[in-house]
Amino acid sequence: MYTQSMSVPDDSASRSVQPLVSAEPAERMARFDACIDADGRIEPQDWMPEAYRKTLVRQISQHAHSEIVGMLPEGNWIGRAPSLKRKAILIAKVQDEGGHGLYLYSAAETLGTSRDQMVQALHEGKAKYSSIFNYPTLTWADVGVIGWLVDGAAIMNQIPLCRCSYGPYARAMVRVCKEESFHQRQGYESLMVMMRGTQAQRDMVQDAVNRWWWKCLAMFGPPDADSPNSVQGMRWGIKRVSNDELRQQFVDATVPQAKLLGVSLPDPLLKWNEARGHHDYGPIDWDEFWHTVNGNGPCNKERLATRVKAHEDGAWVREAALAHARKRQQAALKEAA
Ligand code: 3HC
Repeated sequence: MYTQSMSVPDDSASRSVQPLVSAEPAERMARFDACIDADGRIEPQDWMPEAYRKTLVRQISQHAHSEIVGMLPEGNWIGRAPSLKRKAILIAKVQDEGGHGLYLYSAAETLGTSRDQMVQALHEGKAKYSSIFNYPTLTWADVGVIGWLVDGAAIMNQIPLCRCSYGPYARAMVRVCKEESFHQRQGYESLMVMMRGTQAQRDMVQDAVNRWWWKCLAMFGPPDADSPNSVQGMRWGIKRVSNDELRQQFVDATVPQAKLLGVSLPDPLLKWNEARGHHDYGPIDWDEFWHTVNGNGPCNKERLATRVKAHEDGAWVREAALAHARKRQQAALKEAA
């Protein structure tokens, strides 16, 4: 399941360029631009400008890191889930996130960067991962709210990535989005159950919503005017919808869900704007966002230390797998001789 098979184009007819290994640089560039303009797909064997490759490695590896670091805040609750059913669901969800990380590392590897290099960059603090995973999960309601709001925001951002111009990334995202959609629904359902429970449970849900709401809005990234990568990312068809547009779509979709759930969203300025056909919302604390992105959020150090320890603890598994592969290769060579 977690193999390079995702990098096989599912519709070769949709490709508008052929690999151009020997063509002149200007001709290659023109073919690449024509493919992007025609909304075609770039595949690993196709020529691509170095900046396009670098942008993809940056974004896909950050995305992969977010998936595996994202396992940690919820993973903390596996041992404390309130019932066997909730525990089984949570284990499955956290495993799904690990799987998403693996699809994405594989997609990034098709661009010529190894998973070891990407993981090392994460562990050395040189690569980013989503700001949202640097906040603590204080109560069981946080698990439901992460499913509803964090996974809900992730889906909003990731559905357009299914149409990304780089084939392996786009195809990986189709499966990721299906699974994220289940995550979002299970989170919302678990909150529905709590809201039908005691007053203490309802208070717990409201408190979790209050703590996560603004972090989720910031998760879409800086405002378009302050987003250095957006213009080129959109030109290349990597990004399809801007940070601000996605944030607005998320607000508009979430307001009625909050109403149905019976919670309030912690923003006194949140209101429907008839003229715009969207909800207005209050200012986001971007200083706090950058503080967190730059490594100083409440859990950054803990998250990174946990990942590094897990990697080190797993060294013997990697060594054993390599030794086994070597043995099999030797046996195959012996048999062939
Ligand atoms: N957390 C951390 N860094 C962030 C960020 C966030 N929420 N939002 C933006 N940034 C960083 C960018 O990576 C960029 O840094 P860099 O240039 O050093 O790489 C800088 O802030 C400026 O932002 P831009 O808007 O210019 O950057 P992009 O054009 O790359 O847009 C993005 C940022 C929207 C996050 C885009 O990269 C993207 O869509 N990435 C793929 C999706 C993704 O990574 N999602 C993360 C969450 S995954 C998840 O939640 C897992 C699920 O299980 C819940």
